[in-house]
Amino acid sequence: MAGWCMLLLTLGVVCASVSASPPPIIATDDEGNLYINTSGSQARVLLDGRDILQEIASLKEKLEMLVGTTALTMTTTIPQYVYTGNVGCDLSVLPRNTTSIDGDVSLYSCSGLVTANLSVFENVATITGNLLIRDNEDLASISGLANLRHIGTHLQIQTHPELESLTGLEGLTVINGNLKIQYNSELENLDALSGLTAVTGSILICRNEDLDVNAITTQFSPLSSSTCVNNQQCYC
Ligand SMILES: *[C@@H]1O[C@H](CO)[C@@H](O)[C@H](O)[C@H]1NC(C)=O
Ligand SMILES: *[C@@H]1O[C@H](CO)[C@@H](O)[C@H](O)[C@H]1NC(C)=O
Ligand SMILES: *[C@@H]1O[C@H](CO)[C@@H](O)[C@H](O)[C@H]1NC(C)=O
Repeated sequence: MAGWCMLLLTLGVVCASVSASPPPIIATDDEGNLYINTSGSQARVLLDGRDILQEIASLKEKLEMLVGTTALTMTTTIPQYVYTGNVGCDLSVLPRNTTSIDGDVSLYSCSGLVTANLSVFENVATITGNLLIRDNEDLASISGLANLRHIGTHLQIQTHPELESLTGLEGLTVINGNLKIQYNSELENLDALSGLTAVTGSILICRNEDLDVNAITTQFSPLSSSTCVNNQQCYC
């Protein structure tokens, strides 16, 4: 009986040493890379008790399922709604799913217009005509325009005592008309327009007292054959 047990034990030891996994390590190599190796393919790596390799594997599996089942439907169900007509102060005419406006947007002295009202433009990428925003005394931000990529003709932003930046216009690269920015006394910079590569018409940036004229001249002169920047008057 004892001999049989011994035999099993010996075999067991032999087997174990043949299939022995490398010892667990935490090590660095010459390049400073950090290795954490467990001692077997089934061993787990726990961080604060969470089985992180298992969680990554499970996430990966779910992601692959998602890509497989919904990628196609996602691209086909994004609503594309073209609103045809000009848009004025009555923003309620614009459906939330509007991605393109075939017309002008003119927001002149719109009663009570504040940052939140512009969220109706949240999906609008294209305005085929002008975008004119003017004389809105409480408007502090135009961030609702953040999806805008194309304006068909002119862009004008004028007379806003509360507007500090043009955050929201970062997606614009070309203006196929004139760019006019004037009488926005609190406007601190035009960083939001740093993606602009061309303005086919003229550029007039004047009487925005907080803007640094030299910086603006440097930023905009290369974009148009006619750039006028001034804080004293609106002509050059
Ligand atoms: C850690 O495990 C990987 C994968 O099995 C292996 O390629 C690598 O050589 C191991 N690193 C060390 C330092 O043992
Ligand atoms: C967009 O909204 C309008 C008005 O609510 C609706 O008639 C139209 O079917 C919608 N279009 C899409 C593509 O969701
Ligand atoms: C802006 O929103 C406020 C609050 O909902 C509303 O009273 C005001 O009439 C809106 N103004 C415009 C121009 O849409």
